[in-house]
Amino acid sequence: MDAQPESLTNMLTHGFAEFRDFVNPLIASRAALSREPVDFHHVRGGLLVGADGAVFEDFHGVQAFGHRRAEVSRAVAEFLASDAPNWFPSRVNPFTGRLARRLCEHAGGAYDRVYLTCTGSEAVEAALKLARAATGRPRIVGVERAYHGCGMGSMGLMHDGPFRDPFGPHLPGITRIPFGDAAALRRELAPGDVAAVIVEPIQGEGGVHALPAAFVEAACSETRAHGALLIADEVQSGLGRAGRFLTSETWPRRPDAVVLGKQLGGGLMAVAAMLTTEAHFMRAYGEDFEDGESHNVTLGQNGASAVAALATLSLLTEPVLSRARAAGERLRKALREALAGNSLLDEVRGEGLLLGIALHQPEHPWLSFEHWGLPKLAARATIAPILAYRLYKHGFFTFACGHDWRVLRVQPRLDVDDATLDRFVKAVAQELAHIAEWVS
Ligand SMILES: Cc1ncc(COP(=O)(O)O)c(C=O)c1O
Repeated sequence: MDAQPESLTNMLTHGFAEFRDFVNPLIASRAALSREPVDFHHVRGGLLVGADGAVFEDFHGVQAFGHRRAEVSRAVAEFLASDAPNWFPSRVNPFTGRLARRLCEHAGGAYDRVYLTCTGSEAVEAALKLARAATGRPRIVGVERAYHGCGMGSMGLMHDGPFRDPFGPHLPGITRIPFGDAAALRRELAPGDVAAVIVEPIQGEGGVHALPAAFVEAACSETRAHGALLIADEVQSGLGRAGRFLTSETWPRRPDAVVLGKQLGGGLMAVAAMLTTEAHFMRAYGEDFEDGESHNVTLGQNGASAVAALATLSLLTEPVLSRARAAGERLRKALREALAGNSLLDEVRGEGLLLGIALHQPEHPWLSFEHWGLPKLAARATIAPILAYRLYKHGFFTFACGHDWRVLRVQPRLDVDDATLDRFVKAVAQELAHIAEWVS
């Protein structure tokens, strides 16, 4: 065995190749083929800095306050420099206790029980299990084009494709209804055997689609009428991303459970949460001590993640949320204006800083995966990945939505400045004009 010293420099020098060799060669070769910038060694002012000095703004969204945000790093560093336990064998953890309290306060008092996990998928599992245990019913209703994570339960709700297809048979009792179809929702709820309806208030990976107001109204009223829980998966739409702490906070009734993740750990620590009410918690798990740990994630209760999340929450002030709303509004308008007349534009949509640029896939044979020697991907659009590639040259790291490669997903940091957004709009307009010219 080659005894490489585990210094950071050594890892940064050899670890990228080791990722390819020991983690996932497909991701590594996809990055290489699509010329994704990979070789980042530094962070400066929240930006990624490549080995060659190139600087990138990351629009993935999980780094909602920029990479290695100082307040979050400092909170974790202070915690690590203390001698407080990180993990408590009793599981009664004061750091997660404080985090849970703050999450409930930020959510405006609608929730008073918090279940902490390491990933969004686990928090979705927690919500699904809560619903089954609380209602004693078997069925879960989701919406087509959803992405709720890669756990055995959450994946059953997933849109068809590579995240779902290889892993069947899926969890029984799951029904996926067409997006926005309130009549289908009513039909599924009518027999009274549905434990939960789970929705993303704004679908992220599905292509940035906000749930229509009429569907939201029906979901709020019909779940209550039929005794089913309403679960809002706000892993993408929550924590300020769409310009409010929770997108669902303006719904006619607050969902029975809300799921948060991604940026909760400030982009530094893996932490996610399911918020619900004492009443639901007691119905599901309140009978006996042995039920208290029925859904258990060992390291969900850990201090380092909790202090990172607390530092992140303290950044989510009202001025930051209203700034995100205003910046999103301005960006949407600027993109619409700059791209008007480009034949490749379908629409710019979304709320706050959870935006999508929906494009038409050109018919041109060269712009197909088949032409590039990847026939298995022939049904996939290439337009958003091509645009993402061309934006690398301008220092923007963007992505196609996971289920719909016609849509470029745009999730800048919440405190992004206007000059950066103006540069982005200019870059998108210029590159999309080039592509439109090739295919005309
Ligand atoms: C809406 C939504 N729910 C759940 C998840 C799963 O979160 P995680 O990847 O942390 O398991 C994701 C991840 O992208 C998501 O977008």
